[in-house]
Amino acid sequence: MPVRAFLACAAVLVGGVSAAVAPAAPSAPGFAYGVAAGEMTPTSARLWTRAPGVGRVTLMLTGAGTTRTFALVARPSSDLTAQRTVRGLRPGTTYRYSFAQGRTRSAIGSFETAPAATSAGTVRFAISGDADATRDASGKLGFNGFETYSAMARGRNDFALNFGDTIYSDSGVGGAPVARTVAQKWAKYRLGLALVPLQRLKSSTGVYSGWDDHEFVNDYSRAEHGDAIYRAGVKAFLDYTPATYSPRTGDYRRFRWGKNLELFILDGRSFRSPKVTAACDGDIAPTAPPAVRQAFAPLSPALAKPVPQACLDAIASPSRTLLGAAQLAAFTKAIRSSKATFKVVVNPEPLMQLYALPYDRWEGYAAERARVLAVLRQVKNVVVMTTDTHAHLIGEIRTDTFAAGGPVGTGIWEVVTGPVATNTYAKEIDSFLGAPGFGAVVTGAFFKPAPPRGLGLRCAQTDQYGYAQVTVTSATLTVQPRTASGGVVLDASGAPCAPLIVRAR
Ligand SMILES: [Fe+2]
Repeated sequence: MPVRAFLACAAVLVGGVSAAVAPAAPSAPGFAYGVAAGEMTPTSARLWTRAPGVGRVTLMLTGAGTTRTFALVARPSSDLTAQRTVRGLRPGTTYRYSFAQGRTRSAIGSFETAPAATSAGTVRFAISGDADATRDASGKLGFNGFETYSAMARGRNDFALNFGDTIYSDSGVGGAPVARTVAQKWAKYRLGLALVPLQRLKSSTGVYSGWDDHEFVNDYSRAEHGDAIYRAGVKAFLDYTPATYSPRTGDYRRFRWGKNLELFILDGRSFRSPKVTAACDGDIAPTAPPAVRQAFAPLSPALAKPVPQACLDAIASPSRTLLGAAQLAAFTKAIRSSKATFKVVVNPEPLMQLYALPYDRWEGYAAERARVLAVLRQVKNVVVMTTDTHAHLIGEIRTDTFAAGGPVGTGIWEVVTGPVATNTYAKEIDSFLGAPGFGAVVTGAFFKPAPPRGLGLRCAQTDQYGYAQVTVTSATLTVQPRTASGGVVLDASGAPCAPLIVRAR
């Protein structure tokens, strides 16, 4: 997230007003961190729990008229977590599962397998991300009690996505030390999974998960931060999340969900080049045209200065990558050949042009952004779903929002959603500009007006927790931004954000 460097400061601003009292501890004292299902395909799923103690754990799975049991082992080397992929399942079927160790039983979870690729039934899913469960010195949660996850659990979904910043290794709350080791990161996962709403979501439906930077450290790249914290982050994530990983393509995965939907879950962290902040001297909007920079110079005086050419050259360098060559090749080949009606790209940082602090997201990797957009423009019915920004934003992805003769649209819609629990984008802007309320000003004055005055987003709400509810049929893909209580998100204008309805071509 662009202005994370100012998280600590913003946490001070926010802490006083939005700290929440922790919800009651979950009821199952033995399996205190619940159960989870992930990686659902038509015939398999990966099931997870954390056992009360070291030793044998029995997994029981019921569905399609059969009950099966599996023997697992909880070991200290995985912090007592136990998981296994179950195969031979029936497509489009609801299964129930639970775990036992000795006489202690877990909660009962359920999940659906993906329907067969010929199945044209309606598919519903919810997506959010960016969830910090760190508590301050008095024991209060820094932001909220993860209520968004409860709303997602109530949504009668076929599955959910918990995508990116599923822990905050370097939370700004309460002066917590940065979690760098596997054990420290395990503790971060336990903080979140101890909260009832996350347990409720994970037991109510299958959840696909992915990482972003805070599973490692803020604005992570291996080139900038090294391999040790990467290895720790990967191990802790895989111990606590029923997900899969390969050294070659990281946690990039794709899942077909019936005739009308295929998900492409991108890994934005394992292979990226370093960001170019230094070459740009930390400029807040190096790629914004001079007229736009001048217009916002009263808010941020440094915008009146010209941008060093070396900065623009670095951002545009074709040698820099966000996905890495192997993932980029796998993703572009797969989405080009997908037979699903809608292709949903689950994307760790915005592809849309936002201009402010582009370094950590696609705009800061401009050449690869252009390559990806060139591919996506050739594919029918692509929708991009993104987290990381801590805001609800809906807009068309453009290549030249402010160019003469622009904006140049791609015809591809992006929905940015979340956060669950961290500083909102508005609070981060307030913090960056050093003035409470400026986040709302920027949202209204820049995100909403049509080009050339602003970005012309059809929905922009930068100060509300929540998620996106998605419904896919053979004719349409509909996205409704929702709040942490399940209500409709209000736009910066105060009117409800209308659902985005993308019609199949
Ligand atoms: Fe985040």
